[in-house]
Amino acid sequence: MKKAFIKLDRDYTISRIDPRIYGSFIEHLGRAVYGGIYEPGHPCADEQGFRTDVLKLVKDLGVPVVRYPGGNFVSGFNWEDSVGKVSERPKRLDLAWFTTETNEVGLHEFYDWTKKANSEVMYAVNLGTRGPENARDVVEYANHPSGTRLSDMRIANGKKDPMGIKLWCLGNEMDGSWQIGHKTAKEYARTATEAAKLMKWVDPSIELVVCGSSGYTMRTFGDWEYEVLSECYDHVDYVSLHRYYNNKRGDTPSFLAKSMELEEFIRTVSALCDAVKGKKHTKKQLNLSFDEWNVWYHSAEQDKAVWKTDKWGRGLPLIEDVYNFEDALLVGLMLITFIRNADRVKIACLAQLVNVIAPIMTRSGGKSWAQTIYFPFAEASRWGRGVSLRAIIDSPLYDSTEFTDVPVTDAAAVLNDDGGVTVFCVNRDMTEPCELKIDLRSFGDLRFDFHSVLHNDDIHAVNTELAPDTVKPTPGSAAEIDDGFASVTLPALSWNVIRFSK
Ligand code: AHR
Repeated sequence: MKKAFIKLDRDYTISRIDPRIYGSFIEHLGRAVYGGIYEPGHPCADEQGFRTDVLKLVKDLGVPVVRYPGGNFVSGFNWEDSVGKVSERPKRLDLAWFTTETNEVGLHEFYDWTKKANSEVMYAVNLGTRGPENARDVVEYANHPSGTRLSDMRIANGKKDPMGIKLWCLGNEMDGSWQIGHKTAKEYARTATEAAKLMKWVDPSIELVVCGSSGYTMRTFGDWEYEVLSECYDHVDYVSLHRYYNNKRGDTPSFLAKSMELEEFIRTVSALCDAVKGKKHTKKQLNLSFDEWNVWYHSAEQDKAVWKTDKWGRGLPLIEDVYNFEDALLVGLMLITFIRNADRVKIACLAQLVNVIAPIMTRSGGKSWAQTIYFPFAEASRWGRGVSLRAIIDSPLYDSTEFTDVPVTDAAAVLNDDGGVTVFCVNRDMTEPCELKIDLRSFGDLRFDFHSVLHNDDIHAVNTELAPDTVKPTPGSAAEIDDGFASVTLPALSWNVIRFSK
């Protein structure tokens, strides 16, 4: 049995956790909207056509903010197409996903859906084919009280009160050649700055996310952040990061170590923000919005087949990754990394939410179910609220083909607002359990509350419509507390939540 030790102290804190790190993402892509959250005629559909079974899963997952409507989709999208009488809304070719967009679900419907989901909209504006003027128009439409053409149009369309959308993205992945209206850093920096100014002049209470690189491995990574931030630093609040991992090579020890790269990515982008801060001699700190993250690779072949047979269809079954048990472990490790970096990562959006690289799957006309990755996310969102604690981890290390000195046990700890402590922890060891000792002496009287474990003997185990419970958390061994030290056993390859209450 391996042994690991975590030292916690209630005075050694990182930051209060922004609940928006448990955000998610719905794009007009595949069956995320049509056949996902929205399916009129389904036995569970409500009066607006939203699936209530999906809403229940979303509410139980706990996503305080949902990015919308894209993604790549937004870079060719006209927001005006998505408001007003549904029967009069245009159908358009979406060049991001080679789909026909019918605009049956638009801004008002999605806003209503987020209210039903106990969430908030994070709205992305199109800076691909459009620019500052359309960006400011949609802020005015959504958030201005009344008395102007656009705000009165919102009222005429059924929303008397302003929507009060607080969080806005200045386009999406503008550094990528695949993006509709792809831009150089210089071009984007100017457009984003002017859009930001206008949007904030309309509503000074909003917060803005400027596009960082679409990935850590982009050739322009670093230069892009530096150039864009040098231009728009004073006008924006967050810079975006996106990262998807895969295990195409079937190398689990390396796959599970990828959260180390995630940590480096976060530190590098924080350093780039601080470099610009220093250059500008400003006190303002820019924080990070990790607004797309997940595992993504299982569906590549299926997507090619869909486009071959059904290009320009509506609600095509695109990017429907079926997640296995090891994917859930990496998702857990990524969540641990966000909690540990709570001083810089203020927003994170699991991409995406329903059907498209998603924790929730549906069959059109049929059931909905939770994929493996649903569970670490739901547990982190439920118990990972409060203050992130500095966890000093002493763990055995391993080397893999891609990484060296990988801690076998990785963990994050949270001081919950009720005085309880929650430890999130992954044992990366493929074969051996780990005896974990946690120093809780500084917290006074704590008692063991529960230990929840996500484990399956088969790393490729998946949940399906017919077998939705294959990978699910189960109770783990009880922790013993002796003189302020808790001891608990983490099974080999497992995600663990260990909770102590006051
Ligand atoms: O989440 C799927 C796609 O991944 C998004 O549309 C895009 O922003 C990213 O490349």
